[in-house]
Amino acid sequence: MIVDVLTIFPGMFEEPMSASMMGLARERGLLEFRTHDLRDWTHDRHKTTDDDPYGGGPGMVMKPEPLGEAIAAIHELEDEPAHTVFLTPSGRRFDQSIAEELSSHERILFVCGRYEGFDARSHTLADDEISIGDYVLTGGELAAMVVTDAVVRLLPGVLGHEDSAVDESFSSGLLEYPQYTRPAVWNDLEVPEVLRSGDHARIQAWRRRKALELTLERRPDLLNEADLDSVEVEWVRQANGNVDSQPKED
Ligand code: ADE
Repeated sequence: MIVDVLTIFPGMFEEPMSASMMGLARERGLLEFRTHDLRDWTHDRHKTTDDDPYGGGPGMVMKPEPLGEAIAAIHELEDEPAHTVFLTPSGRRFDQSIAEELSSHERILFVCGRYEGFDARSHTLADDEISIGDYVLTGGELAAMVVTDAVVRLLPGVLGHEDSAVDESFSSGLLEYPQYTRPAVWNDLEVPEVLRSGDHARIQAWRRRKALELTLERRPDLLNEADLDSVEVEWVRQANGNVDSQPKED
């Protein structure tokens, strides 16, 4: 996958996109990551990327011309244009299913907003607009890193253990079951006996039940969309009263 980022702060990406799994994905040739400085497409002495809003009001608005020129130039770097994603608090809210959707693209261009946002006309250049949550950051750079991380780790070969991306929070629609490692007793807290039993069927059943319990306790909203069988739907109903889940068909 090729990820291009258009930003006025390319330096922000250096360490986060070189360390750990992102660095490994790049070393393994699974991710080509490039930043582009929006100021390279300005034509004035001060390399201006923002201006006052028409109609008045506080803050500055990102000028559309450098964005338009930059995005066109970045598309031209490869045979196929990039899937262009604007990071903005008014985008659709990012989640695991959007990460999966984005991981199917060969090329993505993230466009990071700053100031009070983009000139409304520049949105015509976006294929998609994403928010990473209902809060306002000072710019889209951190959001672009969050989305890149969540997408790139889904690419085959990036995580060492191929099951890791499947058997975790959200991919089943549930929070992840509790995990333990050695020692068997720590601070008087014992690892559940079932996990030391070697009985894989019991372990699977225990983990599933724990994932359900945790989801019911912390994120009951997820249960409406989760993939539950009829026994689990009944269990949730009894535990909770009235969760509106449908049994999966199989
Ligand atoms: N830019 C500023 N806030 C943002 C958010 N919550 N998500 C994506 N981009 C942003």
